[in-house]
Amino acid sequence: MSRAVADALPDHLPGQPPRARPAALQELGAESEFARELLAGLARRPRSLAPKFFYDEVGSALFDRICELPEYYPTRTELALLQRHAQEMADCIGPDAEIIEFGAGSSHKIRLLLDALARPRRFVPIDISADHLQAAAARLRAAYPGLDVQPLAADFTQGLELPPVAAGQSPARRVGFFPGSSVGNFTPEEALVFLRDAARLLSGGNAVPSGSERAPAGLLIGVDLVKDPAVLHAAYNDAAGITAAFNLNMLARANRELGADFQLDRFAHYAFYEPRLQRIEMHLVSRCAQQVRLCGQVFEFAEGEALHTENSHKFTVDGFRSLAGRAGWRPSRVWCDPEGLFSLHWLTL
Ligand code: AVJ
Repeated sequence: MSRAVADALPDHLPGQPPRARPAALQELGAESEFARELLAGLARRPRSLAPKFFYDEVGSALFDRICELPEYYPTRTELALLQRHAQEMADCIGPDAEIIEFGAGSSHKIRLLLDALARPRRFVPIDISADHLQAAAARLRAAYPGLDVQPLAADFTQGLELPPVAAGQSPARRVGFFPGSSVGNFTPEEALVFLRDAARLLSGGNAVPSGSERAPAGLLIGVDLVKDPAVLHAAYNDAAGITAAFNLNMLARANRELGADFQLDRFAHYAFYEPRLQRIEMHLVSRCAQQVRLCGQVFEFAEGEALHTENSHKFTVDGFRSLAGRAGWRPSRVWCDPEGLFSLHWLTL
């Protein structure tokens, strides 16, 4: 496999000087959720770090490239499903709805839906990356002048509140949109919690004027399917090495932002499908015995020791419907491509 892309991961971003090595965590100040979680992740066994830290500027750009790879079928397949069935999905959602997108990245997918919807009332994209979000919101406002776009910069796994309905408006039906199979980053137990929280948020009583009621909420969610392990393996081990670079960028980011001294060529991208757990696991494996410095602490890696960076769970259609049911949702329609690679589920309360 080519390592060319990973070899080119920058030590620092253009216009930003390399950062001095902080002696301790405190020197990093408020920006250091990443520092705190990386320190904790390196201290536990097995070592692990949450996949949300993939998405700095460099990582988000690499993820956009992953979505274009010949081996990475999910994005392409889901887009085709949205293109082909947008009208049926819009009919399920109905007129005058308020759409809440979880982890809104690029606005490509939501546009397909917005184009088919009757009088969408409001669009609330939620994302942890505030810059990405504001830029996408500005583009959407320009393209849909009648639509009220209210981005929310937040971590949607933490409790959140939606902005209140404008005075004098009746409450709209709230519909969640969670494409991309990012629900696969959760363990099944965590997915259950997320689906229950989403049900509460979308049916939430906040800002409903007394005497009026919301139509029952809905959720349109993209879910990657269990399939031939060789197809799954290839999707996370692409020939161009983009997924490897995406994974290794976690360490490059720690060097850039936290002054860590990870040597990228001493770690290997390792992604495999674990059929019993129905998930892809991604790890960064130490190629030798080595020490790494971070915030004044030294961490020993044995040869072959791994940092677990991501799980990407796959589902059967029935498996996901039953999980949604256990979270209190009523599974309704499902759209699948003819090859059975990917699914979009319409759930109601
Ligand atoms: C954005 C979580 C859906 O699991 O396929 C792509 C992330 N990781 N290649 C996925 C990812 C490696 C992606 N999700």
